[in-house]
Amino acid sequence: MPVMAWRKLLLVPVIGLLTACSDPVSQVAADPEVVTAAAAVQLRARSGEMVYQHVCMACHATGVNEAPKFGDRAAWAELIEEGYGILVYESIKGEGMMPPRGGDPSVTDLEMANAVAYMVNAAGADFVAPTTEQEVQLMLQKAGQEIHEHEDDGTH
Ligand code: HEC
Repeated sequence: MPVMAWRKLLLVPVIGLLTACSDPVSQVAADPEVVTAAAAVQLRARSGEMVYQHVCMACHATGVNEAPKFGDRAAWAELIEEGYGILVYESIKGEGMMPPRGGDPSVTDLEMANAVAYMVNAAGADFVAPTTEQEVQLMLQKAGQEIHEHEDDGTH
C-alpha cells in the first residue's frame, strides 16, 4: 500500500518520538532499526533536502501560486540579492501566498534555514546553512532589524 509506505518513511521519522505511545502509525516502527533511525533524525535537525521534499516541494516544484520554482535561476535571482537571512526570516514568518514555515509548524528555525539553503542553492545561491540553533537566532535577529529599518525609512 503506497500510502502506508509513505507514512512509514516520512511520518515516523518526523513525529515518531513525540507520538510514540499514542499514534498507531508508530507501531509500524516496532522494528528496532527503524526506531533507531527515527531517534537519530529527531535529535539532529532535518536536512534541507528532507524538509524540502516533505514540505516545500508541494508548491515550489511546480510553482503553485507563483512560488519561485526549484532550480529556476531567473525566478530566484532578485530574492537571492535580498540575502540568506532575509529569505529565512520571511519564509518563517510567511510572505504573501507563502504560509509561515510552508504551513508546517513542526519545522524548526534551523530546519527552515537548511531548507532555504538547499532550495535556493539549487537556483544559483551559495548560502551556507548555520549549524546551531543559536547561529540561526542571531541571523534572524539581524534580518528582523534590517527589515524594520527599511520599514521605518519608508523604503520597504
Ligand atoms: C503552500 C505553498 C507553499 C509551500 C508549501 C512553501 N512555499 Fe515558499 N513560497 C510560496 C509562494 C506562493 C511564494 C511567493 C510568495 C510571494 O512572493 O508572495 C513563496 C516564496 C518563498 C520564498 C521567497 C520569500 C520572499 O522573500 O519572497 C522562500 C525563501 C520560500 N518560499 C521558502 C520556502 C520553504 C523553505 C518552504 C518549505 C519549508 C516553502 N517555501 C514552502 C508557496 C509555498
